[in-house]
Amino acid sequence: MSVNFSFISPKIIFGRGELNKIGKETVYLLRKKNLEYKNVLLVTGKYSLKKSGYLDKIRIILENDGINPYLYDKVVKEPTVELVNQGTKFALKGDCKLVIGVGGGSVMDTAKTIAGLVTNGGKVQDYHAGKEFMKPPLPFILVPTTSGTGSEITNNAVIKDQKLGIKKSIRGLLANTALLDPELTLTLPKENTAYSGADAFVQAIESLVSKSANFISDFFAKEAIKTLGETLPKVVKDLNNIELREKMMLGSLFDALSFSNGKLGAVHGFAHPIGIKFDIPHGLICGMLLPYVMDFNLKIDSVVKKYAWIADTFSAQNILSDYGDCPEKLPKENIEKARWAIEKLKDILSYIGIPLHLNEIGIKESDLEDIVNDTKGSSLENNPRDTNKETLKAILRNAL
Ligand SMILES: [Fe+2]
Repeated sequence: MSVNFSFISPKIIFGRGELNKIGKETVYLLRKKNLEYKNVLLVTGKYSLKKSGYLDKIRIILENDGINPYLYDKVVKEPTVELVNQGTKFALKGDCKLVIGVGGGSVMDTAKTIAGLVTNGGKVQDYHAGKEFMKPPLPFILVPTTSGTGSEITNNAVIKDQKLGIKKSIRGLLANTALLDPELTLTLPKENTAYSGADAFVQAIESLVSKSANFISDFFAKEAIKTLGETLPKVVKDLNNIELREKMMLGSLFDALSFSNGKLGAVHGFAHPIGIKFDIPHGLICGMLLPYVMDFNLKIDSVVKKYAWIADTFSAQNILSDYGDCPEKLPKENIEKARWAIEKLKDILSYIGIPLHLNEIGIKESDLEDIVNDTKGSSLENNPRDTNKETLKAILRNAL
């Protein structure tokens, strides 16, 4: 058997306390690009980084290394075209030569898009309409404060255009450095921990069975599923445990390395239109839909084998042995094991607080037509079993 793959990733710095390296890494990247000028754009959310004290800490570290941070702290919820266009103007006005994004997926998507727009010109809307980046972005460093979105590793950013009612990916935005310090996630509230963790879990499972899965994306997807399956139910009950937070961040990193190369599936195809129509957190809707899309994919033999692997792994790990409705005893046949894995995942998702029926979040039968009409894109195309409007509707109807 020959093994072929290509693999992309930013430089990764991982570990407790590694945030202290942010100044040195910034100076290194500026020097590497022969940029002596030290103005950098620091993109953050509005509140949590200030509240946790990390904003002051980051500013001090940067200033001690001779860097002037220009703070753009306007990110709330998911980034809009206006927010990103305004941030780009702010970066240009400050003559910033590098961008640092510290926060969740929204902050990182904002930071990376600004980095692209500063060097390439134009507005987000131009790139939504099909324009491509012809020049490299400003160098940028991403520092996640959640374990889940994987935005620090991926080369795309999702930006919302409220006027047009769309959420679209902009590509060609790979960070120079992803700096992952699990200590930054210690203050993440329970709900955000559960939702971002569910997102990572879903991404890893979708990537494992995607049409674009390959040797190396499978390797990372399996590591992610093992690590997240064991850790996610524990961390939501023990938020201050740094060892669990570290494992969540590692699991999320493995997941991001997998899906940024192996792509996603139908859950993520649905997630954008549902997220924008119903203003539902991304990780929540992904978690809710996972079991139903897995069930739909059971017609594909290679998928059944991979879901059976998940069952063997969870069984060996004895995950959630005291909770849930799924019997502990693992069946023998692959198809039964695959069904067992889906039931076990339902147990895990409910245990961390994800509802399993769309009607619990206000989605009704009459909404399905519109959702299906807006469900498209590369995630859907990478789902292992081909879909059409009828099958997409049937998946959602099962999930009601
Ligand atoms: Fe996701």
